[in-house]
Amino acid sequence: MTQIWVLGAVLCLFGSAYADEVCYDGLGCFSDLPPWGGTKERPLAKLPWVPGMIETRFLLFTPKNKYYHEIKADAKIMKVTNYNKLKATRFIIPGYLEAKDEDWAQHMCKDMLKWDSVNCIAMEWKAGVRAPYAQAANNARVVAAQVAHMINFLMGNYKQTADKFHIIGHSLGAHAAGEVGRLVPNLARITGLDPVEPYFQGASRDVRLDTSDAAFVDVIHTDSLPFTKNKLGLGMSGNMGHIDFYPNGGELMPGCSKNSGSPSNLDGIWEGNVNFDGCNHARAYQYYSESTVKAHGFVAYPCPDKESFAAGMCFPCTGASCPLMGQSAIKFNLTSVPTGTKFFLTTGKKEPFGRYSYRAKVLLDGSVWPNPGFMYISLKGDREETESIQLHVGMLSPGFYELLINTDKDVGEIKEMTFQWNNHIFNPIKPTYSASRIELVRGKDNKTYNFCGGDRVGEKVIQSVPPCKT
Ligand SMILES: *[C@@H]1O[C@H](CO)[C@@H](O)[C@H](O)[C@H]1NC(C)=O
Ligand SMILES: *[C@@H]1O[C@H](CO)[C@@H](O)[C@H](O)[C@H]1NC(C)=O
Repeated sequence: MTQIWVLGAVLCLFGSAYADEVCYDGLGCFSDLPPWGGTKERPLAKLPWVPGMIETRFLLFTPKNKYYHEIKADAKIMKVTNYNKLKATRFIIPGYLEAKDEDWAQHMCKDMLKWDSVNCIAMEWKAGVRAPYAQAANNARVVAAQVAHMINFLMGNYKQTADKFHIIGHSLGAHAAGEVGRLVPNLARITGLDPVEPYFQGASRDVRLDTSDAAFVDVIHTDSLPFTKNKLGLGMSGNMGHIDFYPNGGELMPGCSKNSGSPSNLDGIWEGNVNFDGCNHARAYQYYSESTVKAHGFVAYPCPDKESFAAGMCFPCTGASCPLMGQSAIKFNLTSVPTGTKFFLTTGKKEPFGRYSYRAKVLLDGSVWPNPGFMYISLKGDREETESIQLHVGMLSPGFYELLINTDKDVGEIKEMTFQWNNHIFNPIKPTYSASRIELVRGKDNKTYNFCGGDRVGEKVIQSVPPCKT
């Protein structure tokens, strides 16, 4: 092995055009021949850097250590850690790094440990990722081999089996996770967080993340516009896992602006030299982190496309048709939906991102003279209540008003609703209105609530609308 390494390194001295393979101790050999390089999707053929230049680190978090413990594939080092062989182990592999959020993988481990008793290993390879893109894409292969080496070590040292390991990768890290799965068969799960597009979309299954890499592969798409045509979407489009999630349609996230820059600047974007905030791309791991703490804000609806979802055509869920995006996606019974199903959901602009969905249908009773104004409703549950939600603005006249509600409050079982209205301009006639009936359907399970309002109320008076007495 060492001999071949020397050969590869020597060949490197004569320029990469001649070097087609490098081998690194304990990690195996890396070729720059197709499918790894010199293909339509991967025009620049690059050999990965030596591990020392990539500076990979394994940072272990457990319920017993608040701060990380850097580990190595070494029994003596592991002995003094809190690694628990009876628990599952998760690796988190970052890729693209947002300058202001470089240590997100460590934060995700901390979030996970609030609820789950697991070994969480945050990976770091900042030196290897901050390289010209084609180089970084190949350096990720070494990181994958290092993770595979660590898993093989842990399986030997602790008699663990591959089905105890879950790899979570963002961007280039998602494909590195896929590569770990190719090297270590029968992993429990791989989560691809907006797997990066350039050099991977359309490439061989051996190169990119796909369903053969683990027993369960779940993917979250947040920046899936094409990279070309000035769209600069960094994430892959189209289903690629056993289950694929498209929050907010999967292309542009609320609270983020459209990506901008010059498409020829892939290297610059990657190395942080171009003004590019990566907001859409980074949302994938932000949603996932939140899902480890508040799973139920991420109910996802099977739907043919984002337009049908936005039009409310895939609302509500029935039976067990809806998975939860994020950590709890594994609980979903995949055989209950056809393969190729896409799952859609709505999130907020900022934390908390999770949303709870309802459809309200309000029967307005009151003055028959059309009157310009505003109407609001709110939901009161046994846990929390929502703010007032605008139901309608424009002419108020008796009849039905319907609204899809996405609230950031997990209100629990709904006990009561409220109704309120305001005039748009001063109205000397002093009209009165009542929400005489409200039918509320909960998105996650199609549970229907019926509320009946009483007397009409004047402007700005809150009407309580309790459950109907039947
Ligand atoms: C999963 O769904 C299939 C088809 O709907 C059903 O036959 C099967 O019993 C379900 N499995 C579990 C574990 O619920
Ligand atoms: C939801 O439940 C209602 C009955 O409460 C039923 O009429 C309707 O078909 C259900 N919706 C779906 C999508 O199954």
